[in-house]
Amino acid sequence: MYYRGYLPDGTAFEETKEEWNDFKKQWEVEKTNFQRISVFPGDNESELNFGWYSKTNDTLPAICWGKDSINDCKEYEGTVKEEYIVKDENGKNAVKYYSNRVTVTGVQRGSTYYYKRKIYGKYESDVIQFNTHNTNNYQFIFVGDPQIGGSAGRFSSVNYYRKALDDNEGIRNDAFNWGKTITSAFDKVNQEPSLILSAGDQADEMDMSKRYIEEMQYSALLLPKQMQQIPMAAALGNHDSTFDTFRRHFNIPNPLKDTIYVNPKTNYITEYNYFFRYNNALVVVLDTNYLHCVDFKNVIANAIKKYPNTDWRIAMFHHDIYGNGIAHAQTDSGIRVIRPCLTKLFHHYKFDVVINGHDHVYTASKFVTYNPNANNNGKYDTTGVSEINKNPDGPLFITANCSTGAKLYEYYKEEEMTWDYVHKNFQRFASSSFGILDFYYEDNNNIASLNVTTYDSNTHNINDGPYKIEKQKRCCNTPDYITEDGIWGVEYGDWCGIVNETINEDVDISEFINEKDIYIDYEDSEV
Ligand SMILES: [Fe+2]
Repeated sequence: MYYRGYLPDGTAFEETKEEWNDFKKQWEVEKTNFQRISVFPGDNESELNFGWYSKTNDTLPAICWGKDSINDCKEYEGTVKEEYIVKDENGKNAVKYYSNRVTVTGVQRGSTYYYKRKIYGKYESDVIQFNTHNTNNYQFIFVGDPQIGGSAGRFSSVNYYRKALDDNEGIRNDAFNWGKTITSAFDKVNQEPSLILSAGDQADEMDMSKRYIEEMQYSALLLPKQMQQIPMAAALGNHDSTFDTFRRHFNIPNPLKDTIYVNPKTNYITEYNYFFRYNNALVVVLDTNYLHCVDFKNVIANAIKKYPNTDWRIAMFHHDIYGNGIAHAQTDSGIRVIRPCLTKLFHHYKFDVVINGHDHVYTASKFVTYNPNANNNGKYDTTGVSEINKNPDGPLFITANCSTGAKLYEYYKEEEMTWDYVHKNFQRFASSSFGILDFYYEDNNNIASLNVTTYDSNTHNINDGPYKIEKQKRCCNTPDYITEDGIWGVEYGDWCGIVNETINEDVDISEFINEKDIYIDYEDSEV
């Protein structure tokens, strides 16, 4: 309904034609490999959470992790459990897969590591290089909806628009473009990104009878070699929530365990709310397929309790509560339910930036604060965004666009808007995009700065930003030196000022909890 334009597949561009033709051959060989390595962030920047499938469970998985060389690498042994059956495309030939989990600890910054995987009791010959970077000056890549497989059913220049792409062709198309986007993002930061944030809808398949297709989409997601060289934290999108593939592939840190809704059949935690610290940033990831303000509050409070003094608080979840897409942000009933809850939580817990997806059109909000008296379906106030923003009342909400270009939609025009939270919209059809969060210190390390910028994957032209946010650096340590200028401590070997603030105040969310705060079925559209 909202789609227009054409797909940015390889044949649309002469310069990528050869690459596309090579990829088609590679994909035929690779597409049924469901045992790829996933690298997730661990509890903090010194840990990595690996996950992968195996077809047996009689040997324990391991990662051998070596600094500067694979020789004398240290073995980290993991666990294997949870049988999972995947039938082939015809619903026959059931294959069992088991989820393997390994956590590597003691990872230092600014280092070169090499690792290899032990599967089926033997180490593979592939040795993967893994670089870590500066603590004080580092970049995250962020992406919206890779939506791999979303091109299925759409018309493309691959076959000269003669017929819609089938499932296989759609995945292959988006797999290629996902690889191009990731490569482009790595190029933009000189091959030194520290982390990827993906705001949900990593895969497109929602049909319960098509597990095999869903697994092929995950295979495509984890295919680029860079995906083994950097941790990716992902949120659960509405398209990812039909299956529990997310949990089986990914080894998530600090999951919220006492959630409102637990699948009574499996007893598994159904939601995927979690958090981790990375250098001076705390990242909290919410599962907004389940609309329980109390769960959101609990995971945020747990995160801040464990890591109270990071300079930055970043949230990520799929459903864009301050987006401007025609498809979702104004119409999904679920978004209207969680907008006031999350606005209050982010305001009181002092979040700086929120990354969303879902609407497949880019939106940057103004800075949004909570106002209980605002009569605007969201209880929010806004202040404008500039190129440089000192100590803003945040957060800034970024709705990232579809990072493969698989599905690209429309936004409301200015004259159609009856809401005032939109700062900037951007859509360029037949394109893909990514964003960069650039964290750094300035002014003798007293000022913590963050630039938020979104780029076109093909050209590196800036789609929006950079928006700079700056504030006084927080200090993780207890005060041990007091001068007329303030209170000082030591962090990472440097003196730093301590920002006094109340960070663990209890936020009253009773107005967002009804007497039966039980599972609410999320009525989503087809997107
Ligand atoms: Fe999506």
